[in-house]
Amino acid sequence: MYKYQEQKWIMFVLLFKFVQISKANCKIQIEKVYKSAFCWHQGLVSVPQDLPVDINRLDLRWNNLTTIQNYAFARYTVLEHLYICDNQLRSLMIYSFCGVQNLQLLALSGNKLDVSVYPYGVFRPIENLEYLDASRNMKNGKTDEVVYSLAFNHLVHLRELHVDLVSKPNLSKSFMGMNSLQKLWFDYCYIYYISNKTFTSLPKNITELRMQNCKSFFTIESDALRHFSSLNALDFSGSHIHLHQALRSLYPLQNYRMKEINFHHITYASITRYDYDVILSKEMMKYIATICIQTLDISYNNIVAIKEMSLIMFRHPECFINVILSANRFGIEQMEIEFLYFFY
Ligand SMILES: *[C@@H]1O[C@H](CO)[C@@H](O)[C@H](O)[C@H]1NC(C)=O
Ligand SMILES: *[C@@H]1O[C@H](CO)[C@@H](O)[C@H](O)[C@H]1NC(C)=O
Ligand SMILES: *[C@@H]1O[C@H](CO)[C@@H](O)[C@H](O)[C@H]1NC(C)=O
Ligand SMILES: *[C@@H]1O[C@H](CO)[C@@H](O)[C@H](O)[C@H]1NC(C)=O
Repeated sequence: MYKYQEQKWIMFVLLFKFVQISKANCKIQIEKVYKSAFCWHQGLVSVPQDLPVDINRLDLRWNNLTTIQNYAFARYTVLEHLYICDNQLRSLMIYSFCGVQNLQLLALSGNKLDVSVYPYGVFRPIENLEYLDASRNMKNGKTDEVVYSLAFNHLVHLRELHVDLVSKPNLSKSFMGMNSLQKLWFDYCYIYYISNKTFTSLPKNITELRMQNCKSFFTIESDALRHFSSLNALDFSGSHIHLHQALRSLYPLQNYRMKEINFHHITYASITRYDYDVILSKEMMKYIATICIQTLDISYNNIVAIKEMSLIMFRHPECFINVILSANRFGIEQMEIEFLYFFY
């Protein structure tokens, strides 16, 4: 197997030497023992094969790659950080990442990779990967059910993942084995219904869940976040969920300790299910009130009034480091009164 791969690799390099027309105009930078190659805006359609073999970082942002040939990086054996963002990638090949087993970071954002087109095993050679960004690839959310084929089950050391969330995701197989995953970011996001079961195939250890800028209003069942027993950061900012519903989604997180809850700008006039004017009440605040929160952002939600001193009933006010309420409509006087109570 090894011999075969080596031969293939040699053939590939020879082939490349012949077809290569212009030397890629890349900037090589050395900091202590870390060597980087920056090849921005070169119109590259394939991975350059004439860079120093001992580069640790290869940055191919803003080029015209449409696919990654098999063994394209095989000569860069100590590569740790690879950026192929903002190209035209539509597909990967099964041996695209062969030979770079030290890779820790792979950034593929801003391409045209569908979450269902990753060939099975494509990440097997880079099992040590800790950070993968495959987000901002699907400009148009599909409307059919999409089975994620990211074959992430080889990525047992992955700690942070950024990926798009289609409108009807089937996440089950892709996430198997990703027991180290802690941070999960969805962007772009087209989901319109999150049931109690949607997230149940995701790894349990996730501490940080971010679903930003979900473009269409989505319903979230009240137990959907139950699965994340280690959650300490929840971010819905910019998503069309409405503050009313977001507060209700905290039902399974009662008595948690959270570093961050970010509900910035999640209430929109276009959402007809709830009133655009938000009046905070004890009832709405009953779950969030039990949570010890360091940073809470509920700015830009058209909060017009606060009833029954609902802001002062937090059971753990000592946890707060930061509370961001700006750009709501309730009177500044009332806010001050609330806050005086709140802090004494
Ligand atoms: C690369 O893509 C850009 C924008 O899509 C285009 O303007 C440019 O002509 C392409 N260059 C090459 C070498 O294909
Ligand atoms: C997800 O897709 C798999 C096929 O890969 C299928 O067996 C499974 O039933 C699907 N799950 C749901 C909830 O549709
Ligand atoms: C994540 O949870 C699994 C069991 O659910 C456990 O085996 C694994 O060690 C945990 N990983 C981390 C990094 O905590
Ligand atoms: C989701 O879970 C909540 C809380 O357990 C429950 O009230 C609700 O009925 C569940 N939704 C569905 C569709 O089963």
